[in-house]
Amino acid sequence: MKKLFLITAFIGGLLCACNSGDKLVYKDASASIEDRVEDLLSRMTLEEKIYQISQQCLGENDNINNNEGMNPVPLNPMIGSVIFMSEDIKVRNEFQKKAIEETRLGIPVIYGYDVIHGYRTIYPIPLAMACSWDPSMLEACTAVAAQEARQAGVDWVFAPMIDVARDARWGRIAEGSGEDPYTAAQFAVAAVKGFQGDNLTSDKKVASCLKHFVGYGASEAGRDYVYSEISDQSLWDTYLPPYEAAVKAGAQTLMSAFNDISGVPASANSYTMNTILRDMWKFDGFIVSDWGAVEQLINQGNAANPAEAALNALTAGVDMDMTDGVYIKNMEQLVADGKLDVKVIDEAVRRVLRVKFRLGLFENPYTPDVQENERILLASSKETAEKAAEETMVLLKNNNSILPLEGVKRIGLIGPMVKNQHDLLGSWLGHGHDEDVTTIMDAMTAEFPDAFINYAQGCDFDGEDKSGFNDAVRVANASDVVVLCLGEKQAWSGENASRSTILLPQIQRDLLETVAKTGKPVVLVLNNGRPLELSGMEPHTAAILEAWQPGISGGTPIAKVLNGKVNPSGKLCATFPYTSGQIPIYYNRRNPARKGTQGFYQDVTVEPMYPFGYGLSYTTYKYGTLKVSAEKVAVDGKLKAEISVTNMGKRAGKETVHWYITDPACSITRPMKELRYFEKAEIQPGETKVFTWDIDVAKDFSYVDAEGTRFLEAGDILVRVGDQTVKVVVE
Ligand code: BGC
Repeated sequence: MKKLFLITAFIGGLLCACNSGDKLVYKDASASIEDRVEDLLSRMTLEEKIYQISQQCLGENDNINNNEGMNPVPLNPMIGSVIFMSEDIKVRNEFQKKAIEETRLGIPVIYGYDVIHGYRTIYPIPLAMACSWDPSMLEACTAVAAQEARQAGVDWVFAPMIDVARDARWGRIAEGSGEDPYTAAQFAVAAVKGFQGDNLTSDKKVASCLKHFVGYGASEAGRDYVYSEISDQSLWDTYLPPYEAAVKAGAQTLMSAFNDISGVPASANSYTMNTILRDMWKFDGFIVSDWGAVEQLINQGNAANPAEAALNALTAGVDMDMTDGVYIKNMEQLVADGKLDVKVIDEAVRRVLRVKFRLGLFENPYTPDVQENERILLASSKETAEKAAEETMVLLKNNNSILPLEGVKRIGLIGPMVKNQHDLLGSWLGHGHDEDVTTIMDAMTAEFPDAFINYAQGCDFDGEDKSGFNDAVRVANASDVVVLCLGEKQAWSGENASRSTILLPQIQRDLLETVAKTGKPVVLVLNNGRPLELSGMEPHTAAILEAWQPGISGGTPIAKVLNGKVNPSGKLCATFPYTSGQIPIYYNRRNPARKGTQGFYQDVTVEPMYPFGYGLSYTTYKYGTLKVSAEKVAVDGKLKAEISVTNMGKRAGKETVHWYITDPACSITRPMKELRYFEKAEIQPGETKVFTWDIDVAKDFSYVDAEGTRFLEAGDILVRVGDQTVKVVVE
């Protein structure tokens, strides 16, 4: 095998020599990217190629949810990519210097990192962002994240996570946009635009990575890394749409998932990666495996040994191997044994190099050392994160309009989240720092200057220690209203953070009941990374604010909702069930055979507690009559649907109109309703705004079959907003 290396290296060397004196094409910025890629590829030895499609860690992983503390291996500067765990630009540039100056061809390394909801300016978790129903807000946040990341030496972010998830036990539901494919697609596109912009060479932009391709959200029983049973129809209906939209929006890379898709693991799945992504969607960037996902093909029963795992993954379309070194250790031999055609390796290298050229890494391999205060936590960035958090708050209950708390004199601020900073950041907190987070305590003190705020922790997030309950009762008794701040710790959601029920721990529920027994009205504020089971808690509350994990603005947007400076406008992007036993529960289910008559649970309702799209406001909106511009339309026709919404209250507010369709009879059965468009707009008191959906029938009313072919059958389509429905006949 070594011989093979020597021969290719010799030829490569000859090529270099032939060109000495002239500018090498791959080094010539004026040459086309494709010419540069081909030129460089033609000079590479097999060993260089194999390193090019491998990734290791630079620095130690500090993510407690995945591989915390995993020691980095000694790095060969020929490596194609590193996960850049450090924040130190010097560390990055030093290693880059080795790659540029100490390797034969000087190919720059691409530095990747998990920037899931901010690099340093941490904004709300993605699940919360989708509840804002404002993709432009996510675009603004991801643009900030891109700027901070690139200027800290990260060229490539492992985001957005765009897995549709319908099981709130799965901790990773926090990282995506919830249960609906259309919603996930809109937010996926926004994130790609924000991260990448239209010039990847900019020092404020990064390459994005759509993950985890594909179907990871279908993990059985909400557990992580397990099997997923996905029919081709569901793959196309539910799991692929966000990927298709984001690939078409120009995403440069994807990450192959951990899950086994009905017998073929996602990281060895030629159908999803080669056929769908490359052949059908013409994706020309690269796919990186998830962490160790190639070697894990052995655990999954897809490969007998590491060599087979490498072969299966690469030939199925995984271009780059993340961290397990399986490509490095096995590929030479696979080629020597004639099991792997070097052309397959070439194609993977080509894709990796293409993205590196697009990022301008050959021209600008080093990160300029800009002062921290000029690149992180800029005032405008913090403002963007706070505005975003304001939009994500979902008011679930507001009995007798107890909120906003106006003129209230004594507030009892109780709960384990009140003085907490870390847990408000949420999972995947990038390089976020606890001290950047405004506590709920500080924010309430600032936002309620005329009120007397009395505090008790009450209890911890879990455990059995109720010694603080008396203090909580004392504080409640001395208050006019209790603001009770409960929720989940940062690491209770995210990767490897599944739960068998989505109840909050017993001690928190007991604290609520104990405090409520004082008779004081309880405003429950929740910070968590997944939908929760609230049916047992709700009767003890006067109001419930779902504030998610808001990131560094922390308590400020919460306090501003509580005092009324912000009128809450978030709506759920994932269903809240009455009980965990209802999971999976999501709005876009298909119809049962005995509709509305049988097939219920014997012990609980089949209805959700808070449905998809649910969220209250401090004002009320009156919807006019839903109208469509024609009763009949051609399959390739256009249509306009509109509905007026009047703000009936005294406060300005932002309302989101969700436009659904239903196809009552189709050769492939369709969900009861499917979201096809949404729009959020501010409406002043007394103002009427007309919301319009310009319908392109072929696109907006059609479906895909199990092969991904789009089709639309003649017949009825129902257009719906709220409980209004208008029938349109497609001819
Ligand atoms: C996660 C990915 C992440 C990668 C790198 C994996 O364990 O599943 O989402 O991007 O680690 O940190």
